Amino acid sequence: MKKLLTALIVLTVIAAITANAAKDKLPRFTNAQFYDAKGNFLPEKAKDAYFTLMKFHGYPVFPGLREKMAVTDFGAGRFLECGLGCMMFHNNEKDRYMLMDLFLLPKQMLPEHWHVATDKNPTKLEGWLVRHGMSHIVGEGEPNLSRDVVIPKCHANGTVTVKHEVLASPGDFVPLNRADAHHWQYGGPEGAIITEAANVHDDSGVRLLDKKMNDAYHGKK
Ligand SMILES: [Fe+2]
Repeated sequence: MKKLLTALIVLTVIAAITANAAKDKLPRFTNAQFYDAKGNFLPEKAKDAYFTLMKFHGYPVFPGLREKMAVTDFGAGRFLECGLGCMMFHNNEKDRYMLMDLFLLPKQMLPEHWHVATDKNPTKLEGWLVRHGMSHIVGEGEPNLSRDVVIPKCHANGTVTVKHEVLASPGDFVPLNRADAHHWQYGGPEGAIITEAANVHDDSGVRLLDKKMNDAYHGKK
């Protein structure tokens, strides 16, 4: 009888630990959940996933965040692999300073891109402070890409042109080495929430390596 009781107690403790661990796990997302039957991207579903990420990491969800944040799949139809959420807090074109937060799901790629000067603004120079999770921040330099990074097929047929990464954790600030440099990011196993600081952001000065994504970003078919 005593043995049975001990076994029961042990089982109860294991069940409690397992339930707690499950509660602390980020749910698995599927690409299909972000599209309707016709393959149209569903921004609200993308926001739901980022809100799950925010809750998981304890990111402060403030009133109006859902309405103010932007999400995109860069027209690739593979949001889980190539996508981004961002919350622009301030973009001051007059005095040139900018602050925004970026959101990446686990293993989600912010596609390779670079910035050029426009008639209104100089080339964007940016840097990233990881707040939650981890991000592979990739740019120019000696190739050292981690095996954990898998470039999705939907991104320029699985290719990139720069392969030097810094695996950044909360508190790590990684500056872009020069304003014209190509760069991209890739979310760690629990995604990433990143604060980006820059001189100024100008959508018309963004160039994406993947031609289809670049056309979609600039509203061309
Ligand atoms: Fe950028």
